[in-house]
Amino acid sequence: MSGWIHRSVLLQEVVEAFPFDGETPRLLIDGTLGNGGHSAALLHRYPPLRVLGIDRDEEALKRAAETLAFAADRVTMVHGNFSDLAQSLADYGAEHADGILLDIGVSSPQIDDPSRGFSWRAEGPLDMRMDRSVPETASRLLNRASEAELVRIFRDYGELRQAKKLAESILRTRQEKPFATTLDLVSLCDQVLGKSRPGQLPAPTLVFQALRIAVNHELDELQEALSAAMKVLNPGGRLAVISFHSLEDRIVKHFFREEAASCVCPPGLPVCVCGKKSTLKIITPHAITAGEDEKSANRRAACAKLRIAEKI
Ligand SMILES: C[S@@+](CC[C@H](N)C(=O)[O-])C[C@H]1O[C@@H](n2cnc3c(N)ncnc32)[C@H](O)[C@@H]1O
Repeated sequence: MSGWIHRSVLLQEVVEAFPFDGETPRLLIDGTLGNGGHSAALLHRYPPLRVLGIDRDEEALKRAAETLAFAADRVTMVHGNFSDLAQSLADYGAEHADGILLDIGVSSPQIDDPSRGFSWRAEGPLDMRMDRSVPETASRLLNRASEAELVRIFRDYGELRQAKKLAESILRTRQEKPFATTLDLVSLCDQVLGKSRPGQLPAPTLVFQALRIAVNHELDELQEALSAAMKVLNPGGRLAVISFHSLEDRIVKHFFREEAASCVCPPGLPVCVCGKKSTLKIITPHAITAGEDEKSANRRAACAKLRIAEKI
């Protein structure tokens, strides 16, 4: 499986997010093991650390096994979804973890492999599943979804202004020929959405992003994983999340704020009646972003945002 390249974003910042110094054995759940880059750095830095690594992509787990071979006895890998992290932890034989890392989205080897259908720049099957064992590919979704569902996907997940126009054309086009390849969709985007203006993201980027989020239920998975993380983190344990677009970052930011809030009574009440206690301490009031050096070495790092919070 050699030949792949993936640079882990904000690598040093992630290592520093987890202060695992000392001899005590700690357990980190890496919910997005990917190619194992972040876990490898943490395992090197903290020799007593153990990692429960989860990924929904079996190909990614094979790459991670190569990267983490140096610490194979300290790593357990699970093919699954990070929203099921509490179950994965129970299957591993533990109730609590000392840290949880989520580096969400897709990795470079996934994007660069045309057979996965994530990139609109290369011809391939319109697949986009991170987990190839689930039945619904992007082409199946495009060929079966109602107009209203497609409008919602393109508007909510792609923030596309012409969502309705695109959805209508998809319904007309698929009556003649079902969508099968990435280029089928790219050529429709070109016809319907036209060329993007300078400084704007190319329209297929937004359309592919929206479909990928829908196919993989990415926002729901994230929301569920954050709630699950609160149940299994030990007090003092940290949750670090790297996101790559505003929809995900908003979910993380709001979740952290809600968990950190100590009272949600309407303003003006003389005493607190809600009884809400803070469950998280926010470590990063503003998201950490990549420096200029990292951004020029790795284009993906440009939109990465890292937020860290600690369980109280
Ligand atoms: C950006 S990569 C992670 C890279 C990794 N941190 C590294 O340093 O090599 C994201 C990975 O998360 C996986 N992934 C995305 N959503 C997931 C989910 N809901 N459950 C489990 N894995 C997921 C993807 O398959 C991909 O391999």
